[in-house]
Amino acid sequence: MDFKIKKTTPEKIKTDALIVPVFEGAVVGSSVDSLSEAARDSLNTALKQGDIKGKAGDLQILGALPDTPAKRIVLMGLGKASEQSASKLRKALVTTATALTKTAAKDAALLLDEIQIKDRDGQWLARQVVELFSHACYRFNDYKSKDKQSKINLKKLTLLCDTDNKAVEEGIKIGSAVANGMNLTRDLGNTPPNICNPSYLAQQAKKLAKDSKTLETTILDEKQMKELGMGALLSVGNGSATPSRLIIMEYKGGPKNQQPHVLVGKGITFDTGGISLKPAPDMDAMKWDMCGAASVFGAMRAVIDMELPLNVIGVVAAAENMPDGKASRPGDIVTTLSGQTVEILNTDAEGRLVLCDALTYVERFKPASVVDIATLTGAVIVALGPFASGLMSNDEAVVEALQAAADYTQDKVWRLPLWDEYQEMLDSPFADMGNIGNAGPKAGSITAACFLSRFTKAYPWAHLDVAGSAFSGGATKGATGRPVPLLTDYLLRQLPA
Ligand code: BES
Ligand code: MN
Ligand code: ZN
Repeated sequence: MDFKIKKTTPEKIKTDALIVPVFEGAVVGSSVDSLSEAARDSLNTALKQGDIKGKAGDLQILGALPDTPAKRIVLMGLGKASEQSASKLRKALVTTATALTKTAAKDAALLLDEIQIKDRDGQWLARQVVELFSHACYRFNDYKSKDKQSKINLKKLTLLCDTDNKAVEEGIKIGSAVANGMNLTRDLGNTPPNICNPSYLAQQAKKLAKDSKTLETTILDEKQMKELGMGALLSVGNGSATPSRLIIMEYKGGPKNQQPHVLVGKGITFDTGGISLKPAPDMDAMKWDMCGAASVFGAMRAVIDMELPLNVIGVVAAAENMPDGKASRPGDIVTTLSGQTVEILNTDAEGRLVLCDALTYVERFKPASVVDIATLTGAVIVALGPFASGLMSNDEAVVEALQAAADYTQDKVWRLPLWDEYQEMLDSPFADMGNIGNAGPKAGSITAACFLSRFTKAYPWAHLDVAGSAFSGGATKGATGRPVPLLTDYLLRQLPA
């Protein structure tokens, strides 16, 4: 989708759909004052009819008004004018964009100046609009035999605004980069697991490198990983017919001696659970077990688009978890790249096994920070639902930056503790640690992160458990593109002032 900014008034704009914010009590703001009397009368008559109250998420589409070139008027409820908020605006934008995708409108225009949210500027507003409209216009039809082409007509949105054009312009730029990143993340996530396997992900990295002079890719195959001693990562792919890969993407946008920020993604291209086999219902959802990896690709895409003057490294630990004669068994003990040994008590706790070796591997980059992103535990869905990613960390500065980025982007996180008491739950009588907590499902997300924390002592680190946020089931089944907005904003916050 294309986004533009224009300094004009609503009676002049030629558009298929003019989006007019409506506040509670069915009131419209002063942006429509320049419409002709006949147009205002007709708008007021429609508002008085009472079909739209102006609550956030309310929506009504009218035909054209007199003396006004816009073909449709879209009334977008925003709630009380004095109580505008980020969450209400997001709800309104999603409703509006979704409704517009079902019309024949090819372009739309939004009266931006009516939207006034405390402590949020034009850049923020533009980013929200761009990200949410792009999100609503996303379709994944590559694998339909007919109708491969998107059936959505909406291709362009004009932001009508009088003030703060520079900030809005910047917001469109960043928002578009984030939206493109999210689209890539969603595409990779939604691609079926018989296509999207570890070498397919490796190909994606090469594709990104082709598009950018600043990106270098290295792919490690199983032989190379064996030589390094990545016994934990390799054990996960033992049962799979498609070999594991470690994918490294180095973006060198900053000065040579500047320490890089590293993103590490869990890339389990399908998680059957292995010998600790998962139940059959909804197992197809485990094709999204590479969404952490997909978000690393998405964030790298955004970094490239923004030409961020920063050194950023994306690493993807890619494997497929299958049951087989060669698969790991519960009770197996493997040696990690760090030298620590792990008793595999449950082969379905495989994410931490691929991540631990990737997290040791990245020590060599002397990172300024490392953030890993993983659909790691069902327990985080129980704790936080789809709204927030679980955040666990050994560093307060990284936590603060991620929390600030989450608040800004509304790509939310919630921190969980990593206290010593939880560490003891990983004790094993036979190896340095087990791969699951010994109190069953209790504190499952935390024990998983405690496991990772034993491999991340060399640098400031945070773990994002995105099992609830990265994809959704039900009517909106598919990858969400999260946490690309969060990661991108986190990286933007690392730019030297
Ligand atoms: N990929 C799953 C976690 C998951 C579950 C992601 C549901 C998305 C939706 C992970 O590999 C897993 O199986 N975790 C186990 C860990 C347990 C065996 C300690 C879980 O959460 O049940
Ligand atoms: Mn699993
Ligand atoms: Zn998994």
